[in-house]
Amino acid sequence: MQRKLFITFSVILLLAILLTGFLSMHLIRSSYLDELEVRLVSNGRLIEQQLEKDKTILTNLTRLRNIVHDYGKITESRITIIDIDGNVLADSFVETGVIENHINRPEVQSALNGEVGRSVRKSKTVNIDMLYVSLPLRQIGENSIIIRLAVDLMEIERINGILFRYVGISIIFGLLISLITGFRVINKIIEPIKEITKVSKKISEGHLNRKVHVISNDEIGELADNFNIMASKLKFTIEELSNSNTKFKALLTSMVNPIIAIDNKRNVIVINPAAETLFNVNAQEVIGKHILEIVRNNALDETFKNIFLSNTETKVEIQIKDPDIKTLKIYTNLIKLEDDPNKTIGLVAIIEDVTEIRKLEKMRSDFVANVSHELRTPLTSISGFVETLKSGAIDDEKTKMRFLDIIEIETERLRRLIDDILTLSEIENTKRSQKQDFNTTELIAEVEQIIMPIATNKNVEVVSEIEQGLPMITGNPDWFKQMLINLMDNAIKYTPEGGLVNLSAYSKYNKIIISVKDTGIGIPKQDIPRLFERFYRIDKARTRKIGGTGLGLAIVKHIALSFNATIKVNSDLGKGTEFIIIIPTKA
Ligand SMILES: Nc1ncnc2c1ncn2[C@@H]1O[C@H](COP(=O)(O)OP(=O)(O)OP(=O)(O)O)[C@@H](O)[C@H]1O
Ligand SMILES: [Mg+2]
Repeated sequence: MQRKLFITFSVILLLAILLTGFLSMHLIRSSYLDELEVRLVSNGRLIEQQLEKDKTILTNLTRLRNIVHDYGKITESRITIIDIDGNVLADSFVETGVIENHINRPEVQSALNGEVGRSVRKSKTVNIDMLYVSLPLRQIGENSIIIRLAVDLMEIERINGILFRYVGISIIFGLLISLITGFRVINKIIEPIKEITKVSKKISEGHLNRKVHVISNDEIGELADNFNIMASKLKFTIEELSNSNTKFKALLTSMVNPIIAIDNKRNVIVINPAAETLFNVNAQEVIGKHILEIVRNNALDETFKNIFLSNTETKVEIQIKDPDIKTLKIYTNLIKLEDDPNKTIGLVAIIEDVTEIRKLEKMRSDFVANVSHELRTPLTSISGFVETLKSGAIDDEKTKMRFLDIIEIETERLRRLIDDILTLSEIENTKRSQKQDFNTTELIAEVEQIIMPIATNKNVEVVSEIEQGLPMITGNPDWFKQMLINLMDNAIKYTPEGGLVNLSAYSKYNKIIISVKDTGIGIPKQDIPRLFERFYRIDKARTRKIGGTGLGLAIVKHIALSFNATIKVNSDLGKGTEFIIIIPTKA
């Protein structure tokens, strides 16, 4: 910039000096020529007068030449006398010999036309620049003659040479002066611009507090002031933007719901951490990518496409398989331009993971169907027998007693079923029941007492190995007992007469391990994962006889959950089964 300005200045200066130099050279030359012409013309007039006075001179060429020669000396010029045909009658520079015809000389032509002729050219005779001036053709006596005078232009060349030197000197001085003063002036202009450039670079690098320090009343000062105002506005705007960006990020991050925003080409523009976790992606990697690259689900993509086409928000439920099988409910909100609400530029999808809710809903409806079914069986049986009794069987004492026994059993079954359902719902609904510390060893002993008569009845031997002084457990003691009773009940129920049930309990690494092991019918491997589902019985025909409802293990599972316990099942079909409950205790 500085160099450019300096070069421009110098070139202008140079041109100006050259132009004035050459203009003044031209002016000097032309005024000098004019002055010479006047002098030559008046000298010419003197010769003319002389010739007029003595007309005989023209008849004697020798005399004429002498006179011409003398006048030439006096006037310091070359004098030539030419006749009307262009022949040179006398010439003060050429004494002897024939001189070529002058008819074509421009000044001679003018003289023939009755005007004063003037011409500057190199003389062929003497080979230097000359000014030729001719007086108009004049009739003197018998002859018509042209008087021509010429002077060399050496003087003007000399003057021009001097002028040329001066021009050269002025150029050198001018350049020197412009170098010194120009440098200062340019620096004064450039310095603030440099400062503004430096500060703007700093600002672009993020140093928004930088200010330009220029004290000047001119346009540059104004520029600097405006620059500073602009910088502080920029700082304010950037701060505001970054504040709202921080709030926006905090909001997005704290949202429990997964959120994805896409543009109208369905490329992701925003994704929050919850959505990153749900779809197992990384925000940095997926921003700008198409939604199908994040959620491989054509239905969802189609839905988004249709939302953009119809320009209406909606909510949809979709199933995804990747990374896990999930049911997602998606609420969409269109992003519209603030100043043109008809223009949609994208949409925000707020996602709700409804997998668990849907699973629970299904379980609940299955449960209702199962309960109704399980209740109907004993009820049908009871009402059947009541009908039969009413229609006459009541009179037969033996049949009556048998039917009433059956009715009693079915009623008992119904009562147990309802008890189990109530227990299950109680455990399920009161996750935080009244917890208390209880003595594990004592409670296990109580269970043994309850279960013993059932085992004796069925002729199944119960062997127990309970470690004395087991650690205390925190939780609901009734539930704990119920859990063990259910397991023991099963073990006895599914073990043929003469079999053995082993109950053991011991503590290890802050855990109590309770095992209920039998020598019964065993459980097929493929059924083990479903054992704890409500109403699940392995072989309905096989267990119906024994009279189970299929809720016992579901209750066990829920109680175990309330103790943070884990359950393991080992079983050998036809040989026996072992249920192991591992309960964490307080350290
Ligand atoms: N120790 C076991 N040996 C063999 N099979 C078992 C044993 N425990 C449970 N089962 C099988 O698991 C099924 C589910 O047991 P669960 O205790 O939930 O139901 P139930 O005993 O049939 O009925 P309820 O216990 O509600 O009276 C049983 O029907 C039975 O087929
Ligand atoms: Mg059972």
